[in-house]
Amino acid sequence: MFLSIQFTVLALQLVNVFAVALNPYDSLAGLTRDEVDAFARSVKVVGAQPVPPPIEDTSMKLVNDAAHPWMPLLPGQQRGPCPGLNTLASHGWLPRSGVATPAQIVTAVQNGLNMEYRRALEVTYAAFLVNGNPLTNLLSIGGLSRLTGSAPPTPALASGLSTHGTFEGDASMTRSDAALGDNHSFNETLFQQIVDISNKVGGGKYNASAAAEVRFQRFQDSVMRNPGFFFSTPRFDTAFIETVFPIVFFVDGRSTDASLDLHVMRDFFQNSRMPPDFHRRGTPSSGSGPEEDMVMNAHDYVPGFNNGSGTCVFLPPPASSSHLVAVNSFVADPNFMGTQTDVLCSLYEKFVNTTRELYPSPQGDLRVALNKNLDNFFIPVSSRCAQIFPFP
Ligand code: HEM
Repeated sequence: MFLSIQFTVLALQLVNVFAVALNPYDSLAGLTRDEVDAFARSVKVVGAQPVPPPIEDTSMKLVNDAAHPWMPLLPGQQRGPCPGLNTLASHGWLPRSGVATPAQIVTAVQNGLNMEYRRALEVTYAAFLVNGNPLTNLLSIGGLSRLTGSAPPTPALASGLSTHGTFEGDASMTRSDAALGDNHSFNETLFQQIVDISNKVGGGKYNASAAAEVRFQRFQDSVMRNPGFFFSTPRFDTAFIETVFPIVFFVDGRSTDASLDLHVMRDFFQNSRMPPDFHRRGTPSSGSGPEEDMVMNAHDYVPGFNNGSGTCVFLPPPASSSHLVAVNSFVADPNFMGTQTDVLCSLYEKFVNTTRELYPSPQGDLRVALNKNLDNFFIPVSSRCAQIFPFP
């Protein structure tokens, strides 16, 4: 009896050492080779797959249709910081589980919301490289992974898009900064700020003018309250375009008005739900365009971060190059472009470098899968950027 208890304890200890106890969609960043191998034995290793082809029919059409009804969330299903992907999952354009392959995401954002193919590839493979599982080829659009056993050693990441600091970042429209609270759930206080601003400058709707003021207010709030506020690459780029996405993708394709009803906006952001009879836009879009330019140019922004010391002080306009002067705290990031001169290439370089940091020395199937997905990530930027090979 005593021996059998001892044996059981030993067996459990061995399981702790060798079993990685991850979900199939968890990131493998930070794991040792033994742990990666143990994980590989516990799952079906799929590895990287080729990028899917672009969709053929990009016309305006009904997407809240009989085949894609909204359904409430069931326990265990993942939702996260992106209202676009959340909504596609809650309508079945993505697996309702919220766990998907990169190819499923690329195809769903085109089919469900008419995102341009190239942009869909860029965003999806960037996110997949830093938050997905290269062996199972799965990414959670949401939550921190529920580890079922011993946690992977640092610097391993919990999986999914809610992971702070690799893709998900600060000063989001409706989600708190990670340092200040819940970075992935809808935040009513923040949404009320959008409502107030839209009533003030958007005539009661969310339009480009409202987007510009929402962006600035969220930026100021993070400078003032988040000692670790980070607003350089990639966040300096994604933060602007995300404020425009609702105008570009959540306005019904039959409308000629580039402004979004606030009830419709709430349903997308809070409930992951399209309005009844919702038609996707009639032409593919990357989201970039005059609205994004307007949001970026409405205020003076500098890519940078709070360095955590001192207090931030705002000087009223007109003050020097920016009316925000962060004393001893918000400092410009001189390296925000990395080695690049092109913004898109600097984003590409940033995500490649983050992948290298997450996987200092990948071996075997893991290395093969990472390299293939790095190739996939390079496809949409290949006409502008030089390819980087972190794992030659
Ligand atoms: C047409 C497709 C998409 C739309 C309309 C969309 C829309 C948005 C919007 C509006 C936000 C900002 C939410 C907020 O600040 O409260 C956001 C955030 C985010 N999206 Fe998407 N998105 C789309 C596609 C994607 C794709 C393909 C990915 C990656 C696979 C992605 C990943 C994210 C992440 C990680 C965030 C959090 C960023 C942050 O605010 O910190 N999105 N998305």
